[in-house]
Amino acid sequence: MRKKIIGGNWKMNRGAPQDAKDMLEKLIPLVKDIDNVDIVIAPPFTSLTAANILLNTNIKIGAQNMYFEDKGAFTGEISPKFLKALNIEYVILGHSERRNIFNETDDLINKKLKKALQEGLNPIVCIGEHLEEREAGKTKDIIKTQMDKTFFGLNKKQMLDTVIAYEPIWAIGTGKTATPEQADEVHEYIRKLLNGKYDAETANSVRIQYGGSIKPDNALELFQKENIDGGLVGGASLEAESLYAIIKAAVKSK
Ligand code: 13P
Repeated sequence: MRKKIIGGNWKMNRGAPQDAKDMLEKLIPLVKDIDNVDIVIAPPFTSLTAANILLNTNIKIGAQNMYFEDKGAFTGEISPKFLKALNIEYVILGHSERRNIFNETDDLINKKLKKALQEGLNPIVCIGEHLEEREAGKTKDIIKTQMDKTFFGLNKKQMLDTVIAYEPIWAIGTGKTATPEQADEVHEYIRKLLNGKYDAETANSVRIQYGGSIKPDNALELFQKENIDGGLVGGASLEAESLYAIIKAAVKSK
């Protein structure tokens, strides 16, 4: 049985430490008794220290990115060692905004992923197709290529330690959610690929989140699908009440 995981990706929002703290102080008591769903909040780097009020709670802290070197002349980048020093447990890698706006390649994401695993960070790795690719019937080809390249060289244990987030790019921030059937179909395909590359245990154990316009009113039907293990939430994760409603949907979907 896979444990559901809800991630709040704040993107470049709530970056002022006090602003982050205000939200988290509301969220902590709301979710304090939930132990059958993993909860991760990924604020901007500038709010990561404020998020240390989450230490000793059931909410884990995630970063939204990192570089694959320990230290050095890499202006503007953040080392996984720095994240570990702040007790950060998760890191989002390969988000479509990183891929499309900042030109991150599968190869770069693969390097970051291997480094995150080596440092004991739990990676949440995003994959997903553009609207034109879906409309051209290429969704599965795109997913296969991203899987092959992004997860290149991972052994079974490393794959099991990785969370995959399927985020169709056309559904991100658009209010246009994938239907539960559309999402589940891709998640099932991802499991098929994992079965081919590894084995049935890996295919059945890796957690696959859906991401793209998840809201309190569509979360439950998505999370009830067999292959969907929770969600990576953008806009609706910025307020404690709406994120709590989505987390409750994950609890209920068991
Ligand atoms: P929205 O929930 O705002 O569509 O963002 C999804 C996302 O990109 C999460 O990583």
